[in-house]
Amino acid sequence: MSVKILAIETSCDETAVAVVENGNKVLVNEVLSQIDIHKEFGGVVPEVASRYHMEGIIPLIEKALKGSGLTLEDVDAVAVTNGPGLIGALLVGVSAAKALAFSLNKPLIAVNHLSGHIYANFIDNEVEFPLVTLIVSGGHTDLIYMDGHLNYEILGQTRDDAAGEAFDKIARAMNLGYPGGPIVDNMAKNGEDSIKFPRVHLEKGSYDFSFSGLKSAVINHLHNQKQKGLEINVEDVCASFQQAVVDVLVDKTIECAKHKKVKNVLMAGGVSANSALRELMSQRCQKEKLNLYYPPLKYCTDNAAMIGAVAFHQFIAQDFAPLDLNAYSSMSL
Ligand code: KG4
Ligand code: ZN
Repeated sequence: MSVKILAIETSCDETAVAVVENGNKVLVNEVLSQIDIHKEFGGVVPEVASRYHMEGIIPLIEKALKGSGLTLEDVDAVAVTNGPGLIGALLVGVSAAKALAFSLNKPLIAVNHLSGHIYANFIDNEVEFPLVTLIVSGGHTDLIYMDGHLNYEILGQTRDDAAGEAFDKIARAMNLGYPGGPIVDNMAKNGEDSIKFPRVHLEKGSYDFSFSGLKSAVINHLHNQKQKGLEINVEDVCASFQQAVVDVLVDKTIECAKHKKVKNVLMAGGVSANSALRELMSQRCQKEKLNLYYPPLKYCTDNAAMIGAVAFHQFIAQDFAPLDLNAYSSMSL
């Protein structure tokens, strides 16, 4: 059996199109990033994002098809992210996908962006259930248990800032640029975990996260140093902040995997590209005899291949969307 799905993702600041075969083989993966445009504003400007998605989507679909040597007739279904994300941005992808599905008379599949991040782990890979996934992105920090395809049990969520959001905000406070995650990751390599920032574990047995206290502690530290006329060691601030985030993410993920008695641990989302997180999670999983999976860098941040990967399982389950499909800025798994 061969099922080829044309997938579209426009939930934030990346216009992305992919064709994925049988949920794990990527035939083409095109990403048109708007990072350079939003950099100027220090973050994503939703209205600007929608406009660039509108300009980019049709040429990107054409480019993807050309690159794969496929025609629209060759695809078995059209999949699209319909939430969570920026509403205006999502609507561009959803409208394009609906138009394609209608004109081609092929099924439309609505994919949750977060499932996409999880299924990035299934590309070119065999992953066994049951498993626990840590989703860490610009908008989410979730711990999710799965005992089979498309079966999600949310065990923990952030109560305030997402991990990626915290990276972006503290980078902004130090004028390091946007997006902050990769910049902080790089600067931390030359710094030391010398400033004692809080590790917030919340109440015992909780798998929820909270990063706003840590973010405030970093901002207070910057403020105090400035007031005292002391120099700010940016590399040390980055290393100390990053270690505080990573310690909590790893502790909670391991606790959660033990609690659910799983052998497989997955990481997903933009922050799973973080080098310190990968290193510590690998060490701890090895110690606890857990199998760790994380996607290659190109599938950690937003892309459409991951949307095509989930959509295959929805295709098999005949989970098709109506042509009046809408987009939703918040949407749970
Ligand atoms: O998954 P993603 O591309 O978009 C969302 O769905 O949010 O994640 C983007 C987030 C941003 O906050 C970015 O700063 C963060 O992922 N990020 C990183 C790294 N690379 C990207 N955070 C820490 N370390 C990195 N290396
Ligand atoms: Zn994302």
